[in-house]
Amino acid sequence: MSVSANPNPQAPAIEGSPTRLPQHVAFIMDGNGRWATERGLPRTEGHRQGLEALRTAIRHAGDVGVKIVTIYSFSSENWNRPASEVSFLMGLLKRFVQRDLSELHKANVRIRIIGGRSDLEPGILALLEEAEDVTRGNTGLDLVVAFNYGSRSEIVRTAQHLAQQVADGKLRVEEISEDAFSRNLDTGGLPDPDLIIRTSGEMRLSNFLLWQAAYSEFYFCDVNWPDFDEAAFDEALQCFGNRERRYGGLDAKAL
Ligand code: IPE
Ligand code: IPE
Ligand code: MG
Repeated sequence: MSVSANPNPQAPAIEGSPTRLPQHVAFIMDGNGRWATERGLPRTEGHRQGLEALRTAIRHAGDVGVKIVTIYSFSSENWNRPASEVSFLMGLLKRFVQRDLSELHKANVRIRIIGGRSDLEPGILALLEEAEDVTRGNTGLDLVVAFNYGSRSEIVRTAQHLAQQVADGKLRVEEISEDAFSRNLDTGGLPDPDLIIRTSGEMRLSNFLLWQAAYSEFYFCDVNWPDFDEAAFDEALQCFGNRERRYGGLDAKAL
């Protein structure tokens, strides 16, 4: 068994500060509806404001030096919402890609989509693929958009893909390792999230990154997503910096 002196060598120390910065932050952007309802507004207004909060979070992540941001934008279970809300959210996604893509591209952001693609409306799929294609060569922040995403279905699709490769004689059963499985998930090639932030006081994963979150740090805060600003983000980063990640081993001080 190998023992690593620094189990998380990818998290750089923040200069002049004892805290460490997460390389990969994943957001469960929750509470848009409640934000609006509390103000006597339609839920759609919460989603609109949520998009503003997302723009702020992406900018701030880049400014502080986070390398990868994953956002849970629409779950495979969110299709169960009323048709009017689903259609508003689809419109918002389209507008986000149409309006923000050139700016994100200019900012050197690389966009990657995770989630089921086979049953998406062709217009949406084309836009998502355009966002990936246009930004593929960028080298700045990685923005991973979880759309029509459900972790269990991602894991099942991966198992099916590997089983098919075995059936076709391209892979041996013994070659199905944790690494091989990870590489074949939608997130293949990306490091696991160091920090998962969920807003709005809910404390659950809601089918988000179940495999990838094995050793993620979790941060739950009460603010609804449209109110999640730079200060709230900094608070989460500060909290992460004070966590001790042991990966089943012992803290260096205890050795
Ligand atoms: C998160 O906010 C956005 C999406 C799930 C698309 P919600 O719409 O879940 O807001 P609440 O949880 O109902 O307040
Ligand atoms: C999770 O939020 C999905 C997104 C943020 C896109 P939900 O609001 O759908 O989760 P539940 O239903 O409260 O678990
Ligand atoms: Mg919600």
